Amino acid sequence: MLTRRRFLQNAAAGAAIGSLATPTASETWRELTARAAAWPIAPPEFGQTDLWTFGGSLPGTELRFAQGDRLAIRVRNDLPQPTSVHWHGLRLPNGMDGVPDMTQPPIGPGESFDYAFELKDAGSFWYHSHLKSTEQVERGLYGPLIVDEAEAPDIDADIVLVLDDILLNETATLVEGFDNMHDASHAGRLGNLILTNGSLDWRTRVQPGMRLRLRLINAATARIFQLGLQGMRGWTMALDGMPLAKPQGIEGRFLLAPAQRADLFVDVLAEPGSPASLVHFLPDGGYAQATFDVGEGGGRTARGMPDTLPPNPVLPPPDLSAALALEMRMEGGMMGGMQQASFDGRMMDMRELMQHGHVWALNGVAGMPEAPFAELSEGQPVRMKLINDTAFPHAMHLHGMHFAEVLPDGKPGPLRDTVLVMPQEMPEIAFTAGPPGKWLFHCHMLSHQASGMKTWFRIV
Ligand code: C2O
Ligand code: CU
Repeated sequence: MLTRRRFLQNAAAGAAIGSLATPTASETWRELTARAAAWPIAPPEFGQTDLWTFGGSLPGTELRFAQGDRLAIRVRNDLPQPTSVHWHGLRLPNGMDGVPDMTQPPIGPGESFDYAFELKDAGSFWYHSHLKSTEQVERGLYGPLIVDEAEAPDIDADIVLVLDDILLNETATLVEGFDNMHDASHAGRLGNLILTNGSLDWRTRVQPGMRLRLRLINAATARIFQLGLQGMRGWTMALDGMPLAKPQGIEGRFLLAPAQRADLFVDVLAEPGSPASLVHFLPDGGYAQATFDVGEGGGRTARGMPDTLPPNPVLPPPDLSAALALEMRMEGGMMGGMQQASFDGRMMDMRELMQHGHVWALNGVAGMPEAPFAELSEGQPVRMKLINDTAFPHAMHLHGMHFAEVLPDGKPGPLRDTVLVMPQEMPEIAFTAGPPGKWLFHCHMLSHQASGMKTWFRIV
């Protein structure tokens, strides 16, 4: 039950943001509790690892809905810290976006917050803490959110694979120092153990000829996964929850940056006893990120190219000739050559910025600016050039709406909510602004976000 105090707080927030999840008698609320839990990561002799989770597992409880359903979730906070939940990649009213002190008050220890909105799009999404996320996501506060298409595609198995890495010491305990400036000013916090669905050795049984839908979700705080297929052939069907116009055959390796998702359809080609896996490539070789043990049976004949997934009801990419043109220069970090940036309304040199825990800037501003990066009107077409003037890759994420990367021929590429921008690259993205509200734009290397690489748009 909502306490009176909680209710008043919600009501106040609702007044401010114009959007309040109101439980109605007919609505069934699901509880999702943020709480501490021990989870077996390292081999048994090391003992379990103390994590923070949604629902007691790593990844958190899988939330699954049908397209058009209404999500109604009461998030309870049983953690010692305040938290909030961001529904990454979902189109929702701004008040449900889960950004503390911007779209809602933080959910204090012992409190709860009601999230409710309609699920307009089918696809692979995820949810995660958006408060002190460098710490809270690393501790395990994330989970998959899957929205099924009205008509089930022609596949034999639907498999969610949440990829992560985690930094543990010799006693299988999380290494603290989540906000250390070394990680923040370089590639972010990288783990020493690689996980799939919370496990060092995730595997499942399949049969030859099966067609699997693999829903890859990169929940790592900073790691870019370089992936490939072994003993299987496949197609990319959707990126960041949005179906591609046409399935794209997978040749060789592909990248999955933090927060990005990819829906693959893969056919098992390997014979019984032969290796089939999703491969993670590291500088010293390839490792099985997920293993498919091929058993006898099946007798399935290989299918041809899969049918395209039905498109989501999103607006087409905007008319670029009518679009407002913006430019965002990303600066800072080690070896980036940034001399100074403004923080808290004052110009600071690198040393002083670092004393304030900041090391990255967007158009010369480090950290969340008081004023929006741009004020847009709903429906306005926007094009924005992202100039990576740093020595590191960044995974730039826009809340609330998908964008298309403008391809070299000037046509819009696939819809995405997170784009990986390599050093010295300057891709252009295009989107139609909306719905109204305050929408974040930030790097999803979470320690980069915490140390300055974030801003926001106001849409009216
Ligand atoms: Cu998935 Cu602002 O984040
Ligand atoms: Cu970054």
